[in-house]
Amino acid sequence: MRGWRALLVACAPLLADDRATFEKVCGACHSTSMIDSFRSEPDWRDTVSQMVQIGAKGTSQEFESVMRYLLRSWTSININAATAAEIAPVLDVPDRVAEAVVRYRAEHGNFTTLDVLESTNRGSGWRRDAYSQEHSLPGL
Ligand code: HEC
Repeated sequence: MRGWRALLVACAPLLADDRATFEKVCGACHSTSMIDSFRSEPDWRDTVSQMVQIGAKGTSQEFESVMRYLLRSWTSININAATAAEIAPVLDVPDRVAEAVVRYRAEHGNFTTLDVLESTNRGSGWRRDAYSQEHSLPGL
């Protein structure tokens, strides 16, 4: 648990930076509050490239930062189908935790409750209610 805390503290400025970059890049033409629904990762990539086509400006680093923010805050996944690589940025957990989630699923079958998942992710700011509402975790 101590290791987790250290990791979270280490990540905290980064989260704020990503949000700030998102506000700057994506708030240039319209309010970022219009980004208020969950999409899949490919859908976000499409949206961002559409915005670039109509004039959104930023460095490639800034767009990486925007994508990290969108993945962490506004992306839905199906936890019973997603790969570890898909899970890690969305649930905002280290790769080894995402791999443990996938391993658990392989050993125990599909998740039918969020409890186990929540226990792998305690304290990282994961929004259980948002995830279950947004049908990324159907029926859970
Ligand atoms: C150059 C100005 C500009 C910037 C910068 C910009 N947008 Fe947009 N965005 C628009 C315009 C114009 C529309 C409305 C046209 C439309 O709906 O396609 C729009 C619409 C949207 C929509 C609603 C339409 C949809 O696809 O659902 C979303 C979501 C969105 N933008 C996300 C973003 C994100 C994320 C960023 C940052 C990467 C961003 N925008 C940056 C101009 C911009």
